[in-house]
Amino acid sequence: MRIVKTIDEVRSQVKAWKAEGLTVGLVPTMGYLHEGHASLIAASHRDNDRTVVSDFVNPMQFGPAEDLESYPRDIDHDSAIVEENGGDLIFNPEPDEMYHKGFSSFVDMTVLTEELCGLSRPVHFRGVCTVVAKLFNIVQPNRAYFGKKDAQQLAVIRHMVDDLNMDIEIVGCPIVREEDGLAKSSRNTYLNSEERRAALVLSKAIFHGIDMVRNGEKDCSAVISEMSGIINAEPLARIDYVKIVDCSTMQIITTLDRPALCAIAVYIGNTRLIDNFFTQDVQHGGVL
Ligand code: PAF
Repeated sequence: MRIVKTIDEVRSQVKAWKAEGLTVGLVPTMGYLHEGHASLIAASHRDNDRTVVSDFVNPMQFGPAEDLESYPRDIDHDSAIVEENGGDLIFNPEPDEMYHKGFSSFVDMTVLTEELCGLSRPVHFRGVCTVVAKLFNIVQPNRAYFGKKDAQQLAVIRHMVDDLNMDIEIVGCPIVREEDGLAKSSRNTYLNSEERRAALVLSKAIFHGIDMVRNGEKDCSAVISEMSGIINAEPLARIDYVKIVDCSTMQIITTLDRPALCAIAVYIGNTRLIDNFFTQDVQHGGVL
């Protein structure tokens, strides 16, 4: 397993692999890897001959008041996880390598980014689409792996690949949870012990929403209202959003009459956490 810092090094390694007829999977990450990332790397290792993991805290997807500076970083810890899960190459560039002086081209998206995190974090998806498009151009993978915890991101990237005719298969992988239900996230490390306990309201609300859908509830406002009630009962929690959207357009719906995403974003103290479920996963028994 190698760690490289430059685009040229990635390109020449991937070129050599492709010359041997090998397939390449890409796992884009911002580092500080946990079991959720490990499952993406393992899935890529299973499906492809070689796996590249990008490890880059992308400044472009953070707003001015967000946690770019404090975002956790630990390349030694990350390389151990990549190695254990069958990754072959880590691409760990400096910001200057990704965004040279005078950088001025962006990938932006309309409709799908109007709700959920796109509404709360206005510059976020422009940054995500731009960096992921760049990573796709640099690595030119056969497949790329993203977690379903960032459900809107997954939908946005699938849409970008389709709109821009990128010849890459996008693979969405299930949310990985702590034993007590909290979805794994690099941002969980920000929580003190009291906040860590309070953060369980996210999964508690999600599991309750899943039960309601499983029991046949079709009225989105009923699901949203009961989930919000659970979250609001926790004094350390502050709701950013609890919403239900159409899976393909990411636009708000009122009745569960099509595949939908129920997504929440909640501040626990100063830490913003997200979680979700897809109604079609509930119906097919694929959730939890
Ligand atoms: O999901 C993330 O960690 C990031 O948004 C991604 C896809 C690596 C782009 O920076």
